[in-house]
Amino acid sequence: MIYADYNGSAPLCEAVKNHLIQRLQNDGPYANPNAAHKIGQRVLTNMENSRAICAKSLGAKYGQVIFNSGSTEGIATVFHSILEKAQQRGKDILITSTIEHSAIINTAEHYRDHHDFELYFIQANKAGIVDLEQLEELLEKFGQRVALVSIMAANNETGVIQPYKKISQICHNHLVPFFCDTTQIIGKAPFNFKDSEIDYAVMSGHKIGAMTGTGLIIAKDPTSIRPIIIGGGQEKALRGGTQHYLGLETLAIALGHVEKNFERIEQLKEKRIAFEANMKKKFPKLCIIGEDSPRLATTTYVSHPGLNGQSVQIELENHNIFVTTSSACSDGDTSTSKVLKAMGIKDEIGMGVVRISLGLCARLEAYDEIEEALTKTYEKLMGS
Ligand SMILES: Cc1ncc(COP(=O)(O)O)c(C=O)c1O
Repeated sequence: MIYADYNGSAPLCEAVKNHLIQRLQNDGPYANPNAAHKIGQRVLTNMENSRAICAKSLGAKYGQVIFNSGSTEGIATVFHSILEKAQQRGKDILITSTIEHSAIINTAEHYRDHHDFELYFIQANKAGIVDLEQLEELLEKFGQRVALVSIMAANNETGVIQPYKKISQICHNHLVPFFCDTTQIIGKAPFNFKDSEIDYAVMSGHKIGAMTGTGLIIAKDPTSIRPIIIGGGQEKALRGGTQHYLGLETLAIALGHVEKNFERIEQLKEKRIAFEANMKKKFPKLCIIGEDSPRLATTTYVSHPGLNGQSVQIELENHNIFVTTSSACSDGDTSTSKVLKAMGIKDEIGMGVVRISLGLCARLEAYDEIEEALTKTYEKLMGS
């Protein structure tokens, strides 16, 4: 079996499994990390160690890390934190891009439809990269009225990495805060919050082999965060609710695992490059989306003109290989994805795509096996 939907959700990584097994065998400590008693304090110490590990591994300061349930919550929190205050100061424009994840698009549209923000979308080119000139133009034109720019670091479908450091600089030249959805880049490409100059970043533990329901925000200035969940004052009153401390320990373990084993990502990248080259030799019309752009090491979004993506997916499943036809959230939707449409990809290609996404815990041989199965699949579907 090959699970090739890491961009959707990664399997628990080995180091995380070992940590959990050990913790269960030791039968604890389990307690509320906000409790004053000794066991609570031990849990708190573990959780704060986890925060320190996450901060160090992501190039952030300890106090800049706010734990939560994952990126969707992080996105809602950042928008909520910035927009309400900005609007009071006459800033009523929001800029995002056409290739964002629906968690960003829907949130931005919510602020347009229910809070009177004007919303502008930066276009992407055929290579899957957002148009920085258009961003510059909008910032020149609207300057002081722009409340927030929200553009992702790496696209979940194509794996294309955006020039996020340049975007930071452009935004800061115009004194506009920059929120970067870093969900897909963390754990799959080098990322350092301080060097990126981003103002807000988010992540979900389940994308990198930690437990689902865990995540964090990194805020350059954590005092700018306003909680969407008030609760009992946890996370320095920035995110109410008892922390998922066990899961947050796994978040630190998974990030540490990525840091220690990063050369494996490079090995997987070599295998991915060979896999794509071999497939193109066998099928000269093959289209690899974002082929010439900087891309996540382990994402291939591939289509053969005339073939239907769902048929390819089902056939691969018969070979025990699990891929998606687009982003997991819109899987089952047979039309060309919004991201591909935004890149100007025609239906002939857009309706044929499957996304093959692996990650650190994948076997190197997985690419050889996927190549064999995808070759047989294409041959079969072309012959029928
Ligand atoms: C780029 C991006 N942003 C945000 C999210 C939302 O993450 P979650 O569902 O873990 O909250 C995802 C999940 O696929 C994603 O790929």
